[in-house]
Amino acid sequence: MTKISEVVEIMKDAESKALPIVRKYLAPPEKLWQPADFLPVTTDPKFPDSVREIQELSKALDYDLFSVLIGDTITEEALPTYQTWLMQTEGFDQQNSNTWATWLRGWTAEENRHGDLLNTYLYLSGRVDMWQFQVTVQYLIQDGFFVGMEHNPYKSFVYTSFQELATNITHRRVATACKAQGNAPLAKICATIASDEKRHANAYMDFINLLFEYNPSDVIIDFAAMMKHGILMPGHMMQEFGEGKGDIFNHFSNSAARLEIYTGRDYVVILEKLLKRWDIEHRRELNDEGQRARDYLMKLPGRLEAVIKRSKVPQERHRFKWLH
Ligand SMILES: [Fe+2]
Ligand SMILES: [Fe+2]
Repeated sequence: MTKISEVVEIMKDAESKALPIVRKYLAPPEKLWQPADFLPVTTDPKFPDSVREIQELSKALDYDLFSVLIGDTITEEALPTYQTWLMQTEGFDQQNSNTWATWLRGWTAEENRHGDLLNTYLYLSGRVDMWQFQVTVQYLIQDGFFVGMEHNPYKSFVYTSFQELATNITHRRVATACKAQGNAPLAKICATIASDEKRHANAYMDFINLLFEYNPSDVIIDFAAMMKHGILMPGHMMQEFGEGKGDIFNHFSNSAARLEIYTGRDYVVILEKLLKRWDIEHRRELNDEGQRARDYLMKLPGRLEAVIKRSKVPQERHRFKWLH
């Protein structure tokens, strides 16, 4: 069991070492892309033509692909939930120029562009019932998310490392699928977002490696605890108007799995990546519980592979209320 008082001390001590990681992976706004870089300019006389082009190219996209794009956007748009939760992590402090809070604000500012850009694109596409989409976003923010991190920095950074890798995969694959279906501008948007997610994943993975320098047993035990809990997606409570909490999340995941945009296999690939990046196999100087956690983690990919082999992706399509 991770001792809170010890964690707070560790997080305080690690701040100065985390600062170069923050500087390495966060870029100032003027050096980053903005949603406007990818959207038609409203004062341009050709604006109506550009919108027509977006609509034509969007119309050609497969139903499953477009529903995944909307689900991804809804997940991005629930950013207030993620920031509120993460800001409560032990060791994060909005005052006193705290490195962890600086990271989180910078990260939020970067992430905020993802929802903004995709949201505007969906609006222009003409394929989305924006009222239904917006109600789903509002529900998701209102309901919060409960993914087992508590306010523990080890668990939080394991979760965010996993999630950033997962969103990198999904946005990247959506980009590839859009390109294959003739929508190069949207492919460029999704690929650009995917590269942000990769940068963020690198930062979170480096934070865990830094914390390994302090109490490797606790970090590894918490990593194992997160995997035992299972990594839930941030949009797991997604719901449609008039339906129950979380009712459409499975339909959204099934659409993604059918297109191989995000599958159970990817879950294992991400886990393997984390095991390698944090060198779990070779971690020594662990207490008994830490050693058990390490052994559990090293066997986990094989066990999950066996489960995946037995599972099947449902083929019937759900008619999402947000998609015309
Ligand atoms: Fe994002
Ligand atoms: Fe992200």
